Amino acid sequence: MGSYKIAVLGGDGIGPEVTAEGVRALDAIGKQFGHTFQYTEDHVGGAAIDAYGTALRPETMEMAKASDAVLWGAVGGPKWDDPRAAVRPEQGLLAIRAGLGLWANLRPSKVDAALVGNSTLKSDVLQGVDIMIIRELTGGIYFGKPQERRTVDGQRAAVDTMYYTESEIARMAHLGFQLARARRSKVTSVDKANVLESSRLWREVVAEVRPEYPDVEFENVLVDAMAMHLIRRPATFDVVIAENMFGDILTDEASMLSGSLGMSPSASLGSLRPDGTGLGMYEPIHGSAPDIAGKGIANPVGMLRCTAMLLRHSLGLEAEAQALEAAVTKAIEDGLRTADIANPGEEVLSTREMAEGILERLS
Ligand code: IPM
Ligand code: MG
Repeated sequence: MGSYKIAVLGGDGIGPEVTAEGVRALDAIGKQFGHTFQYTEDHVGGAAIDAYGTALRPETMEMAKASDAVLWGAVGGPKWDDPRAAVRPEQGLLAIRAGLGLWANLRPSKVDAALVGNSTLKSDVLQGVDIMIIRELTGGIYFGKPQERRTVDGQRAAVDTMYYTESEIARMAHLGFQLARARRSKVTSVDKANVLESSRLWREVVAEVRPEYPDVEFENVLVDAMAMHLIRRPATFDVVIAENMFGDILTDEASMLSGSLGMSPSASLGSLRPDGTGLGMYEPIHGSAPDIAGKGIANPVGMLRCTAMLLRHSLGLEAEAQALEAAVTKAIEDGLRTADIANPGEEVLSTREMAEGILERLS
């Protein structure tokens, strides 16, 4: 029986609506398994720009560091979208990833059998899809320097830099092989080694790590081909490792295998303690969805699956994580639907009702 500190950073749009359900889920798990959760909250993203003039206050970062895990809703929205603005909501997200050293972003894509018909892909392509994309999160072109505007021969120019060190790549490779061992034992490493020097280093370092895991099947795939294979033969992938921007793009694509953005969680982890747990940030991949914000109709499943990942990866509570995941699956199988996953004629539940229906199925 444990006592845990959770930082709840709802952010913008539907973010706070779904983090509220994550908190309810933790309380329900706590009640059932005898744990207590203490929550601290703050504004991040656009809400923090409005309240404090910055997308992430240093105080918020300290609060997150002092927590066992962070539940993150979403940031951004049209109100703060001016590309020339000095402060942007997304800066808060990038700052907390870097500040907490969360270099690995786990984004699972699993197709719920009951929702196969919701995808734009044919159902036979989706049979057995269960992919874990691990996106590198604190390096690459998102963080490489220089990153700036220039004036060259009287013209506007701009530069971004894709930069990796071998240790940043090696830890990604180790994590990929280790996670694969607990799954279906296959790793696909994504790069653009036919063009980019940083990708040639990526491929070289992954090849050096690979002999330590001779039991794990392995392939290199170029990122453009990967974009195609993900929709052509998604069931053939198990663990996929990719640098930051390639992973950003491929995970949006992979999320569509499940038919709705609202279903998928993500976990951002740093270096872990010997027992395999550590501080992590848990964020549904759907984003702030300003078009439906305030209506109470967002799908809470992505956030509840995040909550299960939090229980597993930050708190080491595997039974609790599985109980919550099973409740989500049961609710979907029983036909509970929010608007984004409902077919015409099906009863549509609100965020609150959907989450309640899921938590009723905890056993
Ligand atoms: C994501 C998002 C972010 C990213 C944005 C909001 C900065 O697209 O988490 O995938 O690019 O990492
Ligand atoms: Mg993205």
